Amino acid sequence: MKIAILPGDGIGPEIIDQAVRVLGALDERFEMETAPVGGAGYIAHGHPLPDATLKLAMQADAVLFGAVGDWQFDTLERPLRPEQAILGLRRELKLFANLRPAILYPELAGASSLKPEVVSGLDILIVRELTGDIYFGKPRGMRIAVDGPFIGEREGFDTMRYAETEIRRIAHVAFQAARRRGKRLTSVDKANVLETFQFWKEIVTEVHAEYPDVALDHMYVDNAAMQLVRAPKKFDVIVTGNMFGDILSDAAAMLTGSIGMLPSASLDANGKGLYEPSHGSAPDIAGKGVANPLATILSAAMMLRYSLNRPAQAERIEAAVKQVLAQGLRTPDIHETGTTLVGTREMGDAVVKALAV
Ligand code: IPM
Ligand code: MG
Repeated sequence: MKIAILPGDGIGPEIIDQAVRVLGALDERFEMETAPVGGAGYIAHGHPLPDATLKLAMQADAVLFGAVGDWQFDTLERPLRPEQAILGLRRELKLFANLRPAILYPELAGASSLKPEVVSGLDILIVRELTGDIYFGKPRGMRIAVDGPFIGEREGFDTMRYAETEIRRIAHVAFQAARRRGKRLTSVDKANVLETFQFWKEIVTEVHAEYPDVALDHMYVDNAAMQLVRAPKKFDVIVTGNMFGDILSDAAAMLTGSIGMLPSASLDANGKGLYEPSHGSAPDIAGKGVANPLATILSAAMMLRYSLNRPAQAERIEAAVKQVLAQGLRTPDIHETGTTLVGTREMGDAVVKALAV
């Protein structure tokens, strides 16, 4: 089993280091190879997704990814910006299914900005389509408008589109996930305005016929945003398109008060995947040794479960993370009075130690 390790920018290298140490503390050895990506890829090879990095990611059984992006690259032209690395990996590896769990650990109930009774016990899963929608639709660009009320003016444009196969396959992933959990699926769309999502709704409804044991409901995205902060525990699994999923998953992550805790998986049709924390590269705290490595460590656990077929090892890591939280160890992002403030490396140490017992 070979794992491609892509640390990236900002806090990426620090948090990946801890996840690699945790993987190294398991009974089984995995082959790991590291390559630069994002701004680090641009500095090393002049491109955010260097050929050798893409090749490694394609050969490996799974990819463990840190984070990309840093202000110093914001002035580069779009194809050279760090974000293109993750978009390119999603496209080239055909990682169409993005699983973003939002779980509130009981020990962290106080970290949420919502009242504890609204969020305690929260356990929802967002299934975001990841390789279609307005993110990848063509044509796109900037041009002189040839029609509409502002004819002759400069305009920017993108294309929102979903093919039937794209909707069907993500719907299957979501129904199957719901079947393994609370058996409720909410499909989020904007069918009242957009043709793309009228079509989405129709296809998801068709796929539902194959999953009579799962309850399906449909919700407009604006309402879903409201319900997520009003009564988030009413959701079980949410399935939605690429852009709505981008927005709703950040909101869902923050319900837990600690985006530093949340892992994610991006899977292809065969279970190969890229695993990354839900948070970004946080350049403001990079190199200070204060970033929370737990989202990355939990992403490594998801990798063991979904791509490497090592569910028992995944559970061991998850149990070790629960244990360090129960011990009261907290990085600054989740720190409250009465708990013990630790840095990135100490948190990694504690998880490694918890694994040993
Ligand atoms: C995410 C990020 C990415 C996205 C960016 C970095 C391209 O926000 O993974 O949610 O928009 O998908
Ligand atoms: Mg996002």
